[in-house]
Amino acid sequence: MSKMNKDPMHIYYELMLMNGASYVFQIAVKMGYLQAFSGGDKLSAKKISERLGYLETPSFFMLETLESLGIFEREKINKNPKEDLFSLSKVAAFLTGNYQNLSADYWEHLPTLLKEGTPYKKMDIVEESENEYQVQVKALEWMLTPTAAIAAKNYFSNNKKGISIIDVGAGSGVWSFSMLYEDPSSRVTLADWPAVLEVAKATALKNKISEKITTIEGNFHESTWPQDKFDVCTLGNVTHILTKEANQAIFKKIYNSLNKDGELLIFDVISEREDGHLARSLYKLGLCIRTVKGEVFLPDEMGPWLKAAGFKTFSFESLDIEPYSVGLFKAKK
Ligand SMILES: C[S@@+](CC[C@H](N)C(=O)[O-])C[C@H]1O[C@@H](n2cnc3c(N)ncnc32)[C@H](O)[C@@H]1O
Repeated sequence: MSKMNKDPMHIYYELMLMNGASYVFQIAVKMGYLQAFSGGDKLSAKKISERLGYLETPSFFMLETLESLGIFEREKINKNPKEDLFSLSKVAAFLTGNYQNLSADYWEHLPTLLKEGTPYKKMDIVEESENEYQVQVKALEWMLTPTAAIAAKNYFSNNKKGISIIDVGAGSGVWSFSMLYEDPSSRVTLADWPAVLEVAKATALKNKISEKITTIEGNFHESTWPQDKFDVCTLGNVTHILTKEANQAIFKKIYNSLNKDGELLIFDVISEREDGHLARSLYKLGLCIRTVKGEVFLPDEMGPWLKAAGFKTFSFESLDIEPYSVGLFKAKK
């Protein structure tokens, strides 16, 4: 159901809550509330307000709101709620890492983008891509692991095991490593920039799968890949940073690298679910902020390019997992 048909009061309350929550979170970050707890401390509103030099009562309500958002956990000490102890929840480890401030610096660039058209980052430009993604992919891994785990489970419940996978624009390796965790008899080749692949290699070492992976390092448009070899290619969150022409070229290259029954799995922000509408819209706007030519291409647009590359059969599904914006477009040789 589109928002147009929703109750105006519902829309108003939703907007009011999102806006309030967003302000409280950003101000809490700016005023040091998250930082003050980063050592794992459990503190009362009194203690934290003394430590930061702020007033106790509004600090208590800040913490209570952050708790309602899932950013803090709360422990009762006695009947007086003001003495409850607050500590950072698990998600806070992520919020104090790469995606600190929920990318507030990106959103603050929006007026400049609107007026001047210049993006904040150029993550799709070859010269910047390696450095930018070296920093970003660990956070992407954190966000995408549940989705990738479900996708891997689904894949192996319908297909043979012990396969050979190429993960193009692999980043952390989240898509193909999830397949390896699901089926340890499979093998993975990762194609990405050398600095980015260091991140994937460190994960592989930690998870004891190093001997199951190989890498093809460098610009994936230029590197040499084995021909007619792979059963599956995972292409996760790559189509939206490539132009139409670059997608067409990479589809052809992937086609040639797959064996005769090979399959391409494209994961991207292409879900059709209504409950993913806001996530998709923000994502597309975010792409304008962080890329020069980034664009979300839908299966209807990619289908003809895949056909031209030689792929014969196609299927699409929206993935049933938060933020309900990721879809899987499959193309078979
Ligand atoms: C949005 S990230 C996706 C990473 C991972 N597949 C995921 O879904 O988390 C895009 C990846 O493509 C890689 N990439 C982009 N352009 C590339 C190029 N020309 N050559 C090699 N890798 C490239 C980036 O380094 C990055 O790891």
